[in-house]
Amino acid sequence: MSNNTIEFRDVVKYYSDKAVVDGLSFHVPAGECFGLLGPNGAGKTTTLKMLLGLVEPDAGSIALCGYAIPSGARFARQRVGVVPQFDNLDPDFSVRENLLVFGRYYGLSASKTRAMVPELLEFARLESKADARVGELSGGMKRRLTLARSLINDPAVLILDEPTTGLDPQARHLIWDRLRSLLARGKTILLTTHFMEEAERLCDRLCIIEEGRKIAEGAPRELVAQEIGCDVIEVYGPAPTALRDELAPFATRTEISGETLFCYVRDAEPIHARLAGRTGLRYVHRPANLEDVFLRLTGREMQD
Ligand SMILES: Nc1ncnc2c1ncn2[C@@H]1O[C@H](COP(=O)(O)OP(=O)(O)OP(=O)(O)O)[C@@H](O)[C@H]1O
Ligand SMILES: [Mg+2]
Repeated sequence: MSNNTIEFRDVVKYYSDKAVVDGLSFHVPAGECFGLLGPNGAGKTTTLKMLLGLVEPDAGSIALCGYAIPSGARFARQRVGVVPQFDNLDPDFSVRENLLVFGRYYGLSASKTRAMVPELLEFARLESKADARVGELSGGMKRRLTLARSLINDPAVLILDEPTTGLDPQARHLIWDRLRSLLARGKTILLTTHFMEEAERLCDRLCIIEEGRKIAEGAPRELVAQEIGCDVIEVYGPAPTALRDELAPFATRTEISGETLFCYVRDAEPIHARLAGRTGLRYVHRPANLEDVFLRLTGREMQD
């Protein structure tokens, strides 16, 4: 048996005659934060559902906490906390009641769950909302409650499907802070996201998937260094093609996406000199990031 908490080997899942997960392999050692990145419809949620034994793969093998999935899913899930893509909190119940009800699903005694509630409320920064109904909470608070709820059985592994989609930047930062504290406590995390910044901040390693296939895998910094390896000047303006013809001789590579021209540069000066003072153009010079990796590998941006 391996030391990996999560293992996917050549996993395939068809819906109708389309492979929505197509030969996917990855592994997550204990204590690591691993990210599954990909645009809408890439197969992220389907991958997590297969891991939890909720959807059966058509080929390949999956292991979670040492159990083969789906046959051992019932046992594995005892060690796992889940934050689904869409919150499924009970709107008629208070914050505290939502935690108590969930404890019952895991077969915990009422007194044991009750004893855990203060700590979970504190973790989620929801102490002052304990008796509020879920309907009164902001999106960020609901997400933190779902995260707190996933911890009720003190799981070793957390599986989070887009933990911060739809949240404002402040709410997102609070979730990131909470996830980092869980990693510091030794939890293993598998998360999906569209947010490059989220992946760059939290993930030890990640894989980018597109149409169910892995197109890149590695540590965020390594991937950026390997695939891009230089700075980027983004130019926003009405005629990106003409601009490309003009700037391409001074760039290692260029890419156009919508109204934006991306110039990959080792030396930014010649392009700066040409753009300075022009009206009707905006541009930024920045280090390369994961979004550039995605663009490079697929020819388009992650958000669609
Ligand atoms: N139950 C289902 N029946 C048929 N097709 C499905 C089903 N669930 C998902 N799909 C299809 O499988 C593909 C992958 O869907 P999935 O939900 O895994 O993507 P995702 O990466 O989670 O996307 P998003 O970022 O929008 O959440 C999509 O084309 C989707 O339409
Ligand atoms: Mg999804």
